[in-house]
Amino acid sequence: TGLRDAYKNSFHVGTALNRDDILQTDSLRSALIGKEFSSITAENIMKSMFMHPEKDVYQFDMSDKYVEFGEKNNMFIHGHTLIWHSQLAPWMRSISDSTEMAQAMESHIKTIVEKYKGRINSWDVVNEALNEDGTLRNSAFYKTIGSEYLAMAFKWAAETDPNTDLYYNDYNLTNKAKRAGAVKLVKDIQSKGIKIDGVGMQGHWHIDSPSIEEIEESILDYANLGVKVAITELDVSVLPNPWNLVGAEISQNFENNKKLNPYPEALPDSMQVKLAKRYSDIFKVFLKHQDKISRVTFWGTSDKESWLNDFPVRGRTNYPLLFDRELKPKAAYDSILALK
Ligand code: XIL
Repeated sequence: TGLRDAYKNSFHVGTALNRDDILQTDSLRSALIGKEFSSITAENIMKSMFMHPEKDVYQFDMSDKYVEFGEKNNMFIHGHTLIWHSQLAPWMRSISDSTEMAQAMESHIKTIVEKYKGRINSWDVVNEALNEDGTLRNSAFYKTIGSEYLAMAFKWAAETDPNTDLYYNDYNLTNKAKRAGAVKLVKDIQSKGIKIDGVGMQGHWHIDSPSIEEIEESILDYANLGVKVAITELDVSVLPNPWNLVGAEISQNFENNKKLNPYPEALPDSMQVKLAKRYSDIFKVFLKHQDKISRVTFWGTSDKESWLNDFPVRGRTNYPLLFDRELKPKAAYDSILALK
């Protein structure tokens, strides 16, 4: 049996699909995804720059295939993401008038949610609206409309499909200040009588941070709002976190670059064991709070195509997922399966 069956009484275990997965270019890989995962998220193809490239132009070819894949495999299908400042359609980014932006948002949300009404089980309605200090990010939506854009987005989504779950999704939601910001954001929407069903914690984590205590406290803080908690983009980087270095330093200092990419060929056994332990600790806390958790989705299936090979430093070799570059299950996979 796979993870999907092992965890079926706890929560959905999902993965993110890239273009090749959706087109099913590799049948072994498609079969593995169907066996191991009970939920899918589109890694890129549903973002506004791909799905809504011009004002009245929508591209549904790939998303149709994505939803069909999920239905064929009897999966919980997630929509990612309606309103996001990044990978934003350029025509929307260039709007400077508040009425025009509200109209653009409304037609974007309503058209897409309507298109997959009854077929997409949950949506990331707004993605990454918060700064690290918990204030609202100065996005194209905030600049034009102000803080109201959040409640408006959830209202339009709820009106269009009252039966799909509506999530607020963000990264670093374990950090104290940002966590407080997210709690306030959810409460503001609830206080207006508008439907919000869940908080998605992205879960782009590291081998030694955040702590298990921070993860647990955050799950409880969101669950206490009466909403579901999803872990939406889980991967655990084993590489040094380079966020403190400026870009120029990274590209020009070769010794530094080597330090940033310490395992160019393979992950040493000692690190495989460390990663397995880290995943096991993380899943223990998920299982402890399984009544609050709707879904745990990995940000990809195998290390080969993980976005962390290129981010935040291009060309690094990372090993953050459950399957290796040959699609073989890693010790991390075994450690999660062994908990059931
Ligand atoms: C990432 C994808 O994985 C990359 O392929 C793409 O180049 C950039 O976006 N937060 C999100 C995701 O909500 O959509 C991002 O996905 C990762 C960070």
